[in-house]
Amino acid sequence: MQFASARIALGAGRRLASRFFCIVPSPTSEIMHAVDYIRTKREGGQLTDGQWHDLIARYTDGDIPDYQMSALLMAAFLNGMQEAEMVSLTHAMLHSGVVLDLSDIAGRKVDKHSTGGVGDKVSIPLAPIVAACGVPVPMISGRGLGHTGGTLDKLESIPGFRTDLSIDDYRRQLADIGLVMIGQTADIAPADKKLYALRDVTATVEFVPFIAASILSKKLAEGIDALILDVKHGSGAFMQAEANARHLAETLVGVSEGFGKPAVALLTDMDQPLGRAVGNWPEVEESIALLAGEAPDDLEEVTLALAAEMIVAGHQAETITEALDKAKDAIQSGAAMDRFRMMVEVQGGDVESIANPGKRTEQAVAADVRAPDDAAGFVTRIDALDVGRAMVTLGAGRQTKEDDVDPLAGCVLLKREGDAIAPGDVIARVMASTEERMEACIEGLQSAWSFGERSVSAGSRITDRYADGAWRSGK
Ligand code: URA
Repeated sequence: MQFASARIALGAGRRLASRFFCIVPSPTSEIMHAVDYIRTKREGGQLTDGQWHDLIARYTDGDIPDYQMSALLMAAFLNGMQEAEMVSLTHAMLHSGVVLDLSDIAGRKVDKHSTGGVGDKVSIPLAPIVAACGVPVPMISGRGLGHTGGTLDKLESIPGFRTDLSIDDYRRQLADIGLVMIGQTADIAPADKKLYALRDVTATVEFVPFIAASILSKKLAEGIDALILDVKHGSGAFMQAEANARHLAETLVGVSEGFGKPAVALLTDMDQPLGRAVGNWPEVEESIALLAGEAPDDLEEVTLALAAEMIVAGHQAETITEALDKAKDAIQSGAAMDRFRMMVEVQGGDVESIANPGKRTEQAVAADVRAPDDAAGFVTRIDALDVGRAMVTLGAGRQTKEDDVDPLAGCVLLKREGDAIAPGDVIARVMASTEERMEACIEGLQSAWSFGERSVSAGSRITDRYADGAWRSGK
């Protein structure tokens, strides 16, 4: 695979006319001063594996300051990185901290990473389904920022649920019940934590090599044997353009396999929220409904497709069809729900709240969102980004990393694509711990719906699949 043009369109740069006057050092010695690394990248040169390792180790230790790393990030962003450099960067970031070895735990350990979106609660039902099918799932997740939610915030809306387990407890729980879901510890890929904060304030986030190194340095540190990726595109996705999402999927799979970890990517549509529920507790409630066999079709489709990939990657089925049957059986038999309950109990969560989720929902204040006076015909679209932003206004998501989230805040979308609509119909219900931010949220939320005279039917949310170096569609 070629990564020479690995920069996504958002970052397309230009070469400076003044480069004619530049003096580029010849890298006679492997280890250089930071300024020479910067100069090499500024001139479109390539850093060696040893140089990337030196750069990342010195930056993580505080020996290279943020201002020099900022310059290097921007130079690489504008001039691109070679495939070998991306692998070196990922390796250096991965080994900036602890890399877990789970080889003493039986079975092939498989995890899933999603690039995130609105209403994407898939990890919560997925992990217990897959664990119930005999594949151990060690999952280290993140918090939400901006319009996309985070699995940790969702899990922590279960009263008492702990996501800050020690690595020893993480291993023990995986060995005991085949399933553990925690947050990133300070020991895992510390270089990524520092670099991500810097990228965030230097406009260097939207660059495929950095994104791939960031995601994979964390995932590969978990001790997994294989990785399934859910790369989303559409208005609520991190990569809105499908072409960029495809490029990221190819890169993630290529780099993961370069590390000896087989990977498959599903490309999925995040133009509209996934499922009906958005927000932390509302999404846990919908995840429990899925485990009880009562989920909206789109959520079930994406969850089962990812589960089947994980079951095959975990060598518990030979084909996707066989794996799908196993995943469905795990739901129908109650084995997946049992596994979820076990995890909640072991991680300190209130089992009663998940046995009867509606009771916790009743503790929230609620308000109806109604269709405007000119609404007629059918719902043609619900914009995921508008819904995500309205949820941040409500307090279900974060504007900055330091913000607290309201665990009960969120909404349930009652009218979705293809549903008939008349003015004044209730299109959504909004919930929160207090009424304080509801009015502002409702105003924003209403703008998410589009209406039209003709009914549209919701298609598959799965756009494509990338494995073994090829797209299923042949694109
Ligand atoms: N998610 C990550 O973990 N890192 C990125 O760089 C972007 C999204």
